[in-house]
Amino acid sequence: MTAAPALNDTDEKLRETLDRLCMMSERDYYDPYKVFKWPKSLPEQTFWMSPELMSVHGTDVADELGIEQLHRLSKWESINFYSLNVHGIRELLNEIIGRIHTRGFEMASEYMHHIVGEENEHMWFFATFCLKYGGKIYADKQLRWNNADQAEAANFLVFARLWIFEEIVDYFNAKMGVDQRLHETIKQVNAIHHHDESRHIAFGRQIVGHLYTKLASALPAEQLLELERHLKDYMRASVDSLASPAAYRDAGIPDPYAARRRVLESPRWQQFTTSVLRRPTDYLVKSGIFTEGAAA
Ligand SMILES: [Fe+2]
Ligand SMILES: [Fe+2]
Repeated sequence: MTAAPALNDTDEKLRETLDRLCMMSERDYYDPYKVFKWPKSLPEQTFWMSPELMSVHGTDVADELGIEQLHRLSKWESINFYSLNVHGIRELLNEIIGRIHTRGFEMASEYMHHIVGEENEHMWFFATFCLKYGGKIYADKQLRWNNADQAEAANFLVFARLWIFEEIVDYFNAKMGVDQRLHETIKQVNAIHHHDESRHIAFGRQIVGHLYTKLASALPAEQLLELERHLKDYMRASVDSLASPAAYRDAGIPDPYAARRRVLESPRWQQFTTSVLRRPTDYLVKSGIFTEGAAA
C-alpha cells in the first residue's frame, strides 16, 4: 500500500466527535467479566430471538413448522447471529489493529484503543453465549473481500464495511434488548451491545463520510461506482448470511438449502432486509456515496 494520509488535523468535526466518544467510552466503562449473569442453561420451550426477526417469519417455510420447531430454530438462528458477530469482530479487530498508530490515523488512534478494547469484550461475550448455550460457534462462511489497490480506497472500504456490519447487528440488538418475551440473559447481551455500538456507529459514520470526501475528489466516477457496487454486494451477502442452512439443519428442517432458497426468494425477505439496511442505506445515499438507493 502506498502511504496515504487518511485523516488530517484540519477535520474539526471529526476531532470533536472522537474527543466526545473517548469521553463517553471512559465514562461508560464496565467489566464484562463481572456484569453478565450466565445461568447454566436457558429454557428450550420458548423463543431465543424475537419471532419477527427470524429469517422464516412471514414465509411459507414457517407455516410448515410447529411451535416447538420454531422455538428450536430461534435458538439456532440466535447462535448463528452471535457467531456472525464473533467473525465480524475478528475482521474488525484485524483491520483496526492494522491501522492504529500508522500514518494517517494519528487523530483516530486514541479512540481506536477504545474500540479494540470494547470489541475484544464483545467477541468474548458473544462467543461465551454460543459455547455455553449452543456448544459451538458456527463456521465463518462469509467471503473475505479483497481490498482495493489504492490505500485510500482500501481504507474507505474497510471502514464502510465495518460500520455497515455494526448497523446490521444493531438493528437486531436494539429490538432484542427490550423484548420482554426473551430470557433476561438474551436481553442483557443485546442491550449491552446496543449501548456500546451507538458510539462505534457514530464513529463509523463520521470516518466513512470523511474518507469518502477525500476519495471523491481523487478517483474517476467509474471507480467510485465500483466501490458503490462492492458495498451493495457486501450488504446483500451480509443480510443473506442471517438465513443459515446450518441453523436450519440443527433445527431439524429437512433440506435446509431448499428452505433457505425459499426464504431468500420470498417477498418478505426483500421487505425485511430493506428494513434492516434502511439506516445505513439512507446515510450512504444522503452523503452521495450511493448514487441510487437500493442495496440489491
Ligand atoms: Fe461490538
Ligand atoms: Fe462495534
